[in-house]
Amino acid sequence: MDTKIYVTYNKIHEAVKRLAAQVEDSGFNPDVIVAIGSGGFIPARILRTFINRPIFAVGISYYGTGDIPMETPQKIQWIDEVQQKLTGKRILLIDEVDDTRVTLKYCLEELLSHEPEEIAVLVIHNKKKKKQAEFPPQITRYFAAFHVEDRWIRYPWDAPDIQDHDRCAEGSSAQYT
Ligand code: G4P
Ligand code: MG
Repeated sequence: MDTKIYVTYNKIHEAVKRLAAQVEDSGFNPDVIVAIGSGGFIPARILRTFINRPIFAVGISYYGTGDIPMETPQKIQWIDEVQQKLTGKRILLIDEVDDTRVTLKYCLEELLSHEPEEIAVLVIHNKKKKKQAEFPPQITRYFAAFHVEDRWIRYPWDAPDIQDHDRCAEGSSAQYT
């Protein structure tokens, strides 16, 4: 039996729309969106449809060659002129999945070192599991659309055949792995 979770573009779009409404209802009004690549890029662009703020992209890698985690995540790409863009600003940090939390924590600490006013975290999926890292105490706003079991999630942007992917998402008859 295929225990992977298949998610369609439409489901992600709808989830992001709901999350944007939750952000607004919470009273958090971000100045900028920071997207963690690459999984956070497409959700960030969808989010901008509902919360129209500039998107800054960061690239962080936790896995080296051979899919083995490194000691600590590494910056692959960071924000130019960070002080000007982050200091005193309200940041909405977006990624597709909160898994071990190691990358998110690393990214939050790096962003906090530039003294923003506040950072809120937004993810599509949170995996219900014992996390290997905790959020810094300054993080008090957290938005997740789905809280899921610790299973592998198949995102549409990884699909070799999107029609196949959507069929897998519809039923349990998952064909590709
Ligand atoms: P976290 O802090 O957000 O929990 O991230 P963690 O370091 O645990 O995750 C390492 C990488 O594994 C991330 O990708 C994350 O997106 C990916 N990942 C974790 N669980 C899943 C899953 O169920 N499905 C998929 N498709 N990916 C998952 P990355 O190294 O940043 O690469 P990218 O794919 O985002 O470019
Ligand atoms: Mg990712």
